Amino acid sequence: MSEKIGVNAYIVGGYVRDKLLNLESNDIDITVEGDGIKFAFVLNEILDGTIEVHDKFGTAKIKTENFQVDIVSARKEYYDHSGMLPVVERGSLADDIKRRDFTINMLALDVKTNQIIDIYNGQNDIKNKLIRVVHDKSFVDDPTRIFRAIRYSGRLGFKIEQHTEYLLKESISNGDIFNVSADRIMNEIYLILSEKKPEQIVKLIKYYKIDKRLFCDVNINTTNLNTSPKKGDILLYRFLLFFYNAVKEDIDCLIKKYNFKREYLSGLSDIYNIKMNMSNLTDNISIYNTLKDKRIEAISAVYTMENLNIRRAIEKYYDIMELQKLEINGEDIKRLGLQPSPVYKQILDKILLDKVSGKIKDREDEIKSLLYYVEKIKRGEKI
Ligand code: CTP
Repeated sequence: MSEKIGVNAYIVGGYVRDKLLNLESNDIDITVEGDGIKFAFVLNEILDGTIEVHDKFGTAKIKTENFQVDIVSARKEYYDHSGMLPVVERGSLADDIKRRDFTINMLALDVKTNQIIDIYNGQNDIKNKLIRVVHDKSFVDDPTRIFRAIRYSGRLGFKIEQHTEYLLKESISNGDIFNVSADRIMNEIYLILSEKKPEQIVKLIKYYKIDKRLFCDVNINTTNLNTSPKKGDILLYRFLLFFYNAVKEDIDCLIKKYNFKREYLSGLSDIYNIKMNMSNLTDNISIYNTLKDKRIEAISAVYTMENLNIRRAIEKYYDIMELQKLEINGEDIKRLGLQPSPVYKQILDKILLDKVSGKIKDREDEIKSLLYYVEKIKRGEKI
């Protein structure tokens, strides 16, 4: 096919690495010497997926049910300043390979001949389980590679080769990583926390002592990171575990420094609030009052990190939420003539609390209680 349209096409990077390691991979990167976009359209006639093209960059993405193919026209890249994104020009496969981070990612498979092209001895490093850079300025050019080296090392169980480790440590002590934007740093952390088993990788962050200065002196938690939450978003849950030891001032500093998404911010403050009220988690009402309105990922993180007593309280809360559902709802309040407003939630919460404490039991009790609160509101009184 590549012959037909007069280009050379190569599968490059992670897919070739993972194939040699017998690991499954659904992401295929193809580098084309020539018109990558034309190649992508012809390829998609065979794959019959959905295609997205970026003419400006000479790139295309094909998605099928089982895999994703990213196609780029081969390019040359160079860095003007450490920590900045690279400048890009058209180039050959060799240029494309040269700009890559580690030898294990520098392998290419010629689509025409099915031959592996191995300019930098990547196969040997795969065999010897080594992460190796090919030039001494690799980490200076792109300090996020420090995180990448650690991530591959933890994920694949590979060692960082001696000279590469020397360069990595030198780059850390020169402070290159601290010139990288907050968004790029957090992106690396999210990639790490999205790994199947991030714990070992986070331990390496600590081992190389990059955590304190990056993260406002927080003592990063390195335990339980391979777990998943009972319910909710796994990345948010692991993010909360990662920053579990942050105290109030740390959280304020992190928020100033990083542009966390809304749910991540509220997760951090939920953890803080739960921790502050931990000694109150004794009876149903205080358990309910402390945990209601908290993100499920925050509750899950506390459950994972704390002792048996706290775990029991949280289990109680799960029971309450599961069993103690009200039989009445907003419609019942509307029928009594109150206009929809946040007061609905207040009333339902009050009644649920009465149910949790055992003061009321069935629908009849709930209606009685509802009438009582609605009358109070109508009289302009607080409930
Ligand atoms: N790359 C790089 N420096 C970076 C990011 C990426 O050199 N800061 C190169 C790597 O050689 C990598 C390729 O770009 O092989 C594609 O990047 P990415 O998709 O992140 O990596 P994969 O090799 O596909 O690895 P993963 O299994 O983590 O997806």
